[in-house]
Amino acid sequence: MVNPEIEKRKTFAIISHPDAGKTTLTEKFLLFGGAINTAGAVKRNKANQSNTSDFMEIEKQRGISVATSVMGFEYKGKRINILDTPGHKDFAEDTYRTLSAVDSVILVVDSVKGVEEQTEKLMEVCRMRNTPVIVFINKMDREGKDSFDLLDEIESKLAISVCPLSWPIGQGHTFKGVYNIYDNQLNLFEPDKSKVTEPVIKVNDLSDELLKEFLQPKELGKLKDDLELTDGIYGQLDKEMYLEGLLAPVFFGSAINNFGIRELLDTFIDVAPSPRSREAEQRVVLANDKAFTGFVFKIHANLDPNHRDRIAFLRICSGKFERNKFFYHTRLNKKLKFSNPMDFMANEKSLVEEAWPGDVVGLYDSGNFKIGDTLTEGEQLQFKGIPSFSPEIFKEVENRDPLKTKQLEKGIQQLTEEGVAQLFIQQPGNRKIIGTVGELQFEVISFRLEHEYGAKCGFRMLTFKRSSWITAKDKKNLQEIMQRRAANIGYDKEGNPVFLADNDWALNLAKRDFPEVEFHKTSEFS
Ligand code: G4P
Repeated sequence: MVNPEIEKRKTFAIISHPDAGKTTLTEKFLLFGGAINTAGAVKRNKANQSNTSDFMEIEKQRGISVATSVMGFEYKGKRINILDTPGHKDFAEDTYRTLSAVDSVILVVDSVKGVEEQTEKLMEVCRMRNTPVIVFINKMDREGKDSFDLLDEIESKLAISVCPLSWPIGQGHTFKGVYNIYDNQLNLFEPDKSKVTEPVIKVNDLSDELLKEFLQPKELGKLKDDLELTDGIYGQLDKEMYLEGLLAPVFFGSAINNFGIRELLDTFIDVAPSPRSREAEQRVVLANDKAFTGFVFKIHANLDPNHRDRIAFLRICSGKFERNKFFYHTRLNKKLKFSNPMDFMANEKSLVEEAWPGDVVGLYDSGNFKIGDTLTEGEQLQFKGIPSFSPEIFKEVENRDPLKTKQLEKGIQQLTEEGVAQLFIQQPGNRKIIGTVGELQFEVISFRLEHEYGAKCGFRMLTFKRSSWITAKDKKNLQEIMQRRAANIGYDKEGNPVFLADNDWALNLAKRDFPEVEFHKTSEFS
C-alpha cells in the first residue's frame, strides 16, 4: 500500500539557462496553483547575469532566497514542492546539488536561442541520476527557431529523446496558439499577462469542423502536416521511458503571457513521479519505508553576523519527520531534535509539526550540518548522489592578517561546508586552494570571511583549470602518480586525492602516463 501522503507529493525544480524564463514560469505556476494572487509577487531571486560581478546585488538576493528556496502549494489535491535554483551561472554547483533533492525537473528552453550552454550542463546532471525531464519551449510569442529544428537540437545536444505533447500554430507575430496533442484541444493564444485562463476549444480530432472556425485553411493545413510528421517521428508518449529519464515530453508556450502553463501543470501532476526511492551507500531507501530518513542538500548562512546560525535544508526520503523528536545524525553519531523546523508554502515560512517524503524542511543549525549529511531514526546510513563537480577556477588562499589565522581556518571550513566553494589542500605546507565554478564566489568568500569571521584574505590565481578525483585498483599506482606529480595533487575535504591540471591536454597526458589510474569528473564514483 502506497501512503497517500507520499503519493500526493511532487517535488521538482525548474531549470534553464539564465534568461530563458525560469523565474517567470515559477511565478506562473504559483499563480495558477493559487499560491499567489498577482504576478510579480515572487521577488526575483536572480542577480545581474552579466559577467561583471555584482556582489552586493547577490548579497541582497541571498536575503530573500531563503524564502524562495522552496515553494510549496496545493494543486488539484497534490502537494507541489518547487525547489528554487540560482540563476547565476557562477552558482551552478548550488543548482546541481538542489537537483539531488528533486524527483523530476521542468527544463525551460528559449525558442529564440534554443539549447544554451547552461542547459547542456544541467541536463548532464539530470542524466547522471536519470531524473525525468519535461521540456517547456518558452517565448513562442517571439520570432524563434523552427519547432522541428528545436526538437532536433534538444535531442542532439541534450542526448534525450523527445515527444511533443502540444504543437505550435505559427510563431512570433503569427503565433495563434497550440494544439494539445495529449488532450485533443486547441488553445488559442491571446497575449495577456493578467489573465490565467486561455480560450480552449475542445475537439474530437484534427478533422473536427470546429477547427475551421478558428484557423485559416493554410494554418490548419500546416498543422495537419506537422502533426502527421510528429506522429511519424515521435509517436505516442511512453510514460515509462519518461520516468526512466530517457524521453522528455515537450510543451510550447509563453510564460510571460500565461500561455501553455495550465496544460503544462496539469500534465505535470499527471505524469511526474511522486517521491522516488533513493540510493544510500548501504541500501536503497524506498519512499514508502516506515522509518524516517532524509539528507541535507543545501545550507544557507544567516546574513546577520550577530546570528551565526544557518538553515540546513533537509529533503525527506522516507517515513515521517516530526518536530521535537530525536533523530540520528549519522556522520556525527549523535542524536538531535529540532524545535523550530520550517515548512515553506509559497514564499512564506511557518513552523512544521510533521513532514513527509518529498518535503523539504528548514532546520536551524549552529554548525552540526554539512552538505550531504544524513538523518535517520537510528540506522547507520549515508545517502549518495551529492557529488562535488570539478571546479574551473583555482586560487590559493593568502592570509592577510596572521593574528586572525584561526578565524580564517574556521571561516574557510564553514564556507566550504556550506558549499560556497570547494577546498583542496596541497602539501607540503597545508596550502589551501579554493576551487569554484565562477569568479563571484571569491568575492563572496572574502566578503564573508571579513564580515562574519573577522579574517582577511587574498587570493593568488593558479593555472589549474581542471580537477579529477583519482583512484586505482592497486594502491601502488596511486602512490606513484602522487609522488611523481606531487605538484598537481591536492586533497579534498574528505582527504581524497585530486589531480589538478592546467587544461584538457595536460589531463589527457596524465591519463596516458598513468593508465592504471582512474580519473573521475565528480567526487562520487562507484
Ligand atoms: P530566468 O529566470 O530564466 O533568468 O528568466 P526570467 O523568467 O527572468 O525571464 C527572462 C526575461 O524573459 C524577462 O525579461 C522575462 O520577462 C522574459 N520572458 C519570460 N517569458 C517570456 C515569454 O514567454 N515571452 C517573452 N517575449 N519574454 C518572456 P526581462 O526584460 O529580462 O525582465 P523583466 O523586466 O521583464 O522582468
